[in-house]
Amino acid sequence: MKWQFAANTPNEIKYVVCNADEGDPGAFMDRSVLEGDPHSVLESMAIAGYAIGAKQGYIYIRAEYPVAVKRLNKAIEQAHEHGVLGNNIFGTDFSFDIELRLGSGAFVCGEETALIASIEGLRGEPRPRPPFPAVKGLFGKPTLLNNVETYANITQIILKGADWFTSMGTEKSKGTKVFALGGKISNTGLVEIPMGTTLREVVFNIGGGIPGGKEFKAAQTGGPSGGCIPAEKLDVPIDYDNLISIGSMMGSGGMIIMDEDNCMVNIAKFFLEFTVDESCGKCPPCRIGTRRMLEMLEKITDGRGEEGDLEKLESLAENIKAAALCGLG
Ligand SMILES: Cc1cc2nc3c(=O)[nH]c(=O)nc-3n(C[C@H](O)[C@H](O)[C@H](O)COP(=O)(O)O)c2cc1C
Ligand code: SF4
Repeated sequence: MKWQFAANTPNEIKYVVCNADEGDPGAFMDRSVLEGDPHSVLESMAIAGYAIGAKQGYIYIRAEYPVAVKRLNKAIEQAHEHGVLGNNIFGTDFSFDIELRLGSGAFVCGEETALIASIEGLRGEPRPRPPFPAVKGLFGKPTLLNNVETYANITQIILKGADWFTSMGTEKSKGTKVFALGGKISNTGLVEIPMGTTLREVVFNIGGGIPGGKEFKAAQTGGPSGGCIPAEKLDVPIDYDNLISIGSMMGSGGMIIMDEDNCMVNIAKFFLEFTVDESCGKCPPCRIGTRRMLEMLEKITDGRGEEGDLEKLESLAENIKAAALCGLG
């Protein structure tokens, strides 16, 4: 879908937007790219602008990343000096520029339509899709919106070729994925793995296993909207489809490891509290439903749980998911 608006309408205004909001608790993949190699994102956005016929790009970055903001500003200045951004890039008739827009830390502003509203100066709330941003996005114009990591891959794909990139990964999820590995694991930090690597390899080889010889209990992926992968799924190859099929999701790449001492109900409460706090309130299933779910969990942890509570929770969660406007609900 995102390709359809490309070269066909060369005179139409279009935008390239980079999502650097990175709101998942514990995630810092995008920050490390922006602090370490901001040019990889700037150059890729210019290439994306050339591909779709856009002249203007925006990077929406959270204000809590002051070092990344400083380095991006410096990199934009350098790119102008070297003719990589600005008018008539490398003496061609292609012009492209990039500006930063700072987010104030609302988790929901990472959702693409809320992010677009926030850049437009409106309240950062999602809106129903369709129309998708590729058709009607920033200022009502076709907009290519991608994450930092997605853009950072583009220059490497162009340098080394699509065959190189697609030689890594699984049938439907190509290339590599960066995860922020945290929690009860010996080696915490960023890890980049080919898609299709098993969770067991990540936890026990790359991550060095669970400290103190404790048992692995679960891995939380996908941020607050994701889920927990239990020990019996350790050998499932990690890719977009597999994570969904086992009840979690890829999200932006946070991976929190839990051991035998972690209480799964407390973990569920932590993420639910986060969701309740960060709900923008636009749609009732999320605004009211997630609060009711949290109350039910609190009732259970207080020892006031009743027969059937878990089934009620499950059905409430399914109803919220089906009716909520965005993935937070
Ligand atoms: C509640 C919510 C929060 C999100 N937060 C982020 C975020 O912080 N960073 C991000 O890149 N995508 C986030 N997304 C996903 C974006 O809407 C969008 O799909 C993504 O930026 C597209 O980039 P990609 O296709 O290159 O991954 C969020 C989605 C939802 C529903
Ligand atoms: S699901 Fe929640 S965060 Fe998303 S629009 Fe509805 S109320 Fe807002």
